[in-house]
Amino acid sequence: MSFPITRHRRLRGTAGIRGMVRETVLNTLDFIQPIFVTYGTGVKSEIGSMPGVYHFSLDMLKAEVDEIAALGIPAVLLFGIPETKDAIGTSGFADDGIVQEATRLIKQWYPELLVVADTCLCEFTDHGHCGMVHTHVVDGVVHGDVINDASLELLTRTAVSQAKAGADIIAPSNMMDGFVQAIRTGLDENGFEHVPIMSYSVKYASAFYGPFREAADSAPQFGNRKTYQMDPANLREAIREADSDVLEGADMLMVKPALAYLDVIRTIRDQFDLPLVAYNVSGEYSMVKAAALQGWIDEQAVVLEMLTGMKRAGADIIITYFAKDAARWLRG
Ligand code: PBG
Repeated sequence: MSFPITRHRRLRGTAGIRGMVRETVLNTLDFIQPIFVTYGTGVKSEIGSMPGVYHFSLDMLKAEVDEIAALGIPAVLLFGIPETKDAIGTSGFADDGIVQEATRLIKQWYPELLVVADTCLCEFTDHGHCGMVHTHVVDGVVHGDVINDASLELLTRTAVSQAKAGADIIAPSNMMDGFVQAIRTGLDENGFEHVPIMSYSVKYASAFYGPFREAADSAPQFGNRKTYQMDPANLREAIREADSDVLEGADMLMVKPALAYLDVIRTIRDQFDLPLVAYNVSGEYSMVKAAALQGWIDEQAVVLEMLTGMKRAGADIIITYFAKDAARWLRG
């Protein structure tokens, strides 16, 4: 059948009918709100490149978590800025580390709120890489790379210490080969066989993480992350990454960033049946905020459209710095 019998506008005529035929609906239950926790006291400081996102010291954290819980957002993702850093990221797996302490507090305040712990070392290492490195200096310039297998042990210790502190979900973002298997084994050996792994399976070496690295003070001090994070040009490689994670025991898969990678989200959704997470990253947030602050775009409409696009592409869950705003807007 074609025009004039077929008229697509019939199903667009009123808000009522548009609502009835809507294919994708955002739900606050699918959001995860990231939080940056820092050492010290009395700290609530806005991150320069991320207006509306703050560093919180532990004594200032409660009000933020109250707000997230009151909005009905089911989960937070914790990132920590430690007081001290060293070559192996010791403060990342210390039982009294900043993420571990924040986890204990949040679980005490809100036992039902899910705490997702980002398992990586870049916030805790003095070189800013996601694992252990070997380096050499040529003409005063540091060169080096991350050592894969030795890093797995440190990452596993980090995950276990996060689970011990009460983290509900372990989200490893380090992109070492074999990290899901290593962490799964470590969790199981320590009595945490019930704790799921949300794997950052498909994580690209993206310029969109720029504002996060200011927020988490985690920029690499030499080189870049291209030897472990994926080349933005690759899609088939994303399938191989997700495949390994499934075989190694991942419970959820993730694609990160989201906006420039909606085709990747769709492909992973079509090929795997695990729950799929899209990470709407810092640079995606900052671009929208900057334009909104200039009055150039309608922030609410743009954000809801972007998040709907991620869900339409196949994401079940969205990690976004807009979670609180979106939850508020969805309430109307
Ligand atoms: C840690 C990590 C990063 C992000 C999440 N976990 C940064 C990176 O890989 O450099 C980025 C999040 C964002 O940009 O919002 N490895």
